[in-house]
Amino acid sequence: MKTDLDQSEKTRLYEDGYVIIRNAIDADAIAQAKSLIESFLPKDERRLLVPGKLATDERITGLFTESCVQQVLETVMGPFPPVLSCQVAVTPPFNKLGGVPGTHVDGGWSGELPEHAEEIDPQTNRPIEAERYFGKNDERRGANDGLLWMDPERTLSYGSYTTLVGIALNDQLELGNGQFAVLKGLHEEVEDCFREQRDKGDIVGPEGYEWPRIRIDKAGRPYNNGLPNRIRKIAGERAAKGAAIESWPWPELTPINLHAGDAIIALHSLPHTPTPNLGPNPRMNIYFRVRRLREGNPNEGTRRVAHGVSDHPDRGYFGQFLEYPEHHNPWATTKDALCDHWSEWDGMQELVAARRQS
Ligand SMILES: [Fe+2]
Repeated sequence: MKTDLDQSEKTRLYEDGYVIIRNAIDADAIAQAKSLIESFLPKDERRLLVPGKLATDERITGLFTESCVQQVLETVMGPFPPVLSCQVAVTPPFNKLGGVPGTHVDGGWSGELPEHAEEIDPQTNRPIEAERYFGKNDERRGANDGLLWMDPERTLSYGSYTTLVGIALNDQLELGNGQFAVLKGLHEEVEDCFREQRDKGDIVGPEGYEWPRIRIDKAGRPYNNGLPNRIRKIAGERAAKGAAIESWPWPELTPINLHAGDAIIALHSLPHTPTPNLGPNPRMNIYFRVRRLREGNPNEGTRRVAHGVSDHPDRGYFGQFLEYPEHHNPWATTKDALCDHWSEWDGMQELVAARRQS
């Protein structure tokens, strides 16, 4: 069984922010997971709802824990708490997903917003009636139904982890099959944006330097903004250069074409998005969000965090504030990791050091 990435795979991870492991999971495990999910999908409805209990079913989480993926990550990244859960991501057939990919970095708030641009304060990029949407104490989960802030002091407004692992249960080789897509290589730029915010002593994440929390789309509707301004600008420049791939309408995005059983390992900081599934089959991917073990954090491995699925493991999965000892500041630790993402990859240190020297 594969236990490590080879040098060229590590180079891909370093340069592109992701690497694909072909045939990472054996065909029987894939077939079993796929038929289990299919057994829960309504047959004649367009909307496919996957029941939550599948996310912790060992036939699904086993795709990670019982395959080479667990081993490879332990070597390349380092130790991590048990993976208890995952995201079962099914895009129904003939689904345009709104037509425009919502490229983002994971960890942002995605709650309800006002419908019209005039309801957004152009100075703060928050709703004018903020309390109505964000709640009275917007550092807590409550009326806002989510996490606008990670810390009670509101200095960190984004959730994060170390790596996103995607496992394909069906072939996604032809474009238009709902491919996962990425802003290839922009992980370092995203890290720079976090660093710039921290170095200015500003909020890290939306509402911090050059990262408005809410933007207005071309139709005049407010949306939750999952990208710093600089990343959006670079994506726009790439898009303006025109089509790199025929019959792929988003030149800024690199489609990740996977066979059933392939896995992608991506950095948290790599912007990504699902894309429309124009084909006749459901697009089925399983996503795992894994954070390298933080020595000194007594909450590592607690079920409340839901490691494997949570994009905000400094809090409980449902937004609970966890208890931390005085010597462990989870928010400071997270900011350090966001501003130096390779620090969480033990097996990449040699390559990273060599690249930084050259
Ligand atoms: Fe995402």
